[in-house]
Amino acid sequence: GIPTFVKIVEVGPRDGLQNEKNIVPTAVKIELIHRLASCGLSVIEATSFVSPKWVPQLGDAKDVMQAVHNLGGIRFPVLTPNLKGFEAAMAAGAREVAVFASASESFSKSNINCSVEESLSRYRAVTRAAKELSIPVRGYVSCVVGCPVEGPISPSKVAYVAKELYNMGCFEISLGDTIGVGTPGTVVPMLAAVMAVVPKVKLAVHFHDTYGQSLANILVSLQMGISIVDSSVAGLGGCPYAKGASGNVATEDVVYMLNGLGVKTNIDLGKLMLAGDFISNHLGRPSGSKTAIALGRV
Ligand code: HMG
Ligand code: MG
Repeated sequence: GIPTFVKIVEVGPRDGLQNEKNIVPTAVKIELIHRLASCGLSVIEATSFVSPKWVPQLGDAKDVMQAVHNLGGIRFPVLTPNLKGFEAAMAAGAREVAVFASASESFSKSNINCSVEESLSRYRAVTRAAKELSIPVRGYVSCVVGCPVEGPISPSKVAYVAKELYNMGCFEISLGDTIGVGTPGTVVPMLAAVMAVVPKVKLAVHFHDTYGQSLANILVSLQMGISIVDSSVAGLGGCPYAKGASGNVATEDVVYMLNGLGVKTNIDLGKLMLAGDFISNHLGRPSGSKTAIALGRV
């Protein structure tokens, strides 16, 4: 059977905004996070401590983090690609970080400018430093079913990277279909390979909705025992180094499906829709959530 409770990791303020061309004002990001925090979400990925030359949109990471890190009862992980990012995150008040490796060599090169092995050794340094400060580290694997350059990715490569991240101390591993090409046909064998080496309670799924496959992929993941799902309010998102990748699956759509399945999330869908309206209005385009659009009419 499927899990009775699903933890949603809201990635809108980070994955959702990192690809926006126009710089979103820091105050808007902070208000978005405050609105998301009022919805019952327990984890909100707030920003990234990456190079502002690579991701200009998140160049205000320090200010965003300083403004939100004291909101009670909610975890605000931030992406850290190296020790420099980790140290900056700690100085800004972050209490949880995430490292991000790839199952594809080409994507690793274009996203973080190093090989997969090199990234894993950087992440060992980050997880070591984090352990000394008792900071939890989440691990991402990107391109888990396909890469924009290399095409299909073998499940064994995903399992290898996931296991390395788990072994270095990541408390949770998020499996990302960065370009949204997966279907249940490719997601199921990928998950089976990863579950053979990392306990499934430690695994999260992270789908982008480029081909409209996210909810189907989430459902099969739940059926395989996954109980942690990444999503983005209003379906914001896309990776600047994954050409053509569209937004993450919309949090509203995930919550609507889970409500229908009788799976608890503790998330208030009405408040979530208001947070989605807020950022969609700011960006000047309709929400990427079908649920938000449908419920907004009734
Ligand atoms: P690099 O150019 O190879 O780095 O970038 P470097 O070590 O040679 O340093 C170059 C410059 O960057 C130096 O500054 C460093 O100080 C600076 P300069 O001397 O030229 O003034 N630098 C930094 N500045 C701020 N924060 C840092 C940092 N590190 C170095 N942490 C690097 C390598 C990893 C830094 C770069 O490639 C980078 O920042 N990449 C991040 C890309 C990114 O954020 N991508 C999107 C997130 S991944 C994703 O979206 C997928 C995911 O959602 C899962 C999925 O969907 O599947 C997670
Ligand atoms: Mg992503």
